[in-house]
Amino acid sequence: MALLPILTAPDRRLKQISQPVEEVSDKIVKLMDDMVETMYAAPGIGLAAPQVNVLKRVIVVDVETYDGEDKHDLLTLANPEIIEQTGEIIWAEGCLSVPEFTEDVVRAEHIIVRALDRDGKKIEIEAQGLLAVCLQHEIDHLDGKLFIDHISRLKRAIITQKLKKRKKSE
Ligand code: NI
Repeated sequence: MALLPILTAPDRRLKQISQPVEEVSDKIVKLMDDMVETMYAAPGIGLAAPQVNVLKRVIVVDVETYDGEDKHDLLTLANPEIIEQTGEIIWAEGCLSVPEFTEDVVRAEHIIVRALDRDGKKIEIEAQGLLAVCLQHEIDHLDGKLFIDHISRLKRAIITQKLKKRKKSE
């Protein structure tokens, strides 16, 4: 396994649409494994392939990372798709590609996601609360969207300005 560099905003590569996975090949499984290692090392609770500069519809999520349970709730998904959503939840979201910022985002409270798992098997996941938020956030990445695209234009401009400045001083 390998740690992958994570792109940070503003970066036009984060705004691109990712392509569906045709088959969960060895190459895709290796990508999933590297993404899992990268997510845990960051540490983060989710990561999408475009964040590591791969435009494939692959995400990894483990919202239990912080409670000491080892990989208990790890999801590695290809072609995740929201097929049902209900309710509303507000969560203060962050993102490994928008380091050190959090903002409240409104999302569906309860969702059903259809995807392929690590073995290429079709699965459906019912999620609510943090897991639902995290899945929606990661699936957004596959469509070139960041959580700051859900907040006010003014707040987004301020954050983008600060991110730009920080990049220049690096
Ligand atoms: Ni993110």
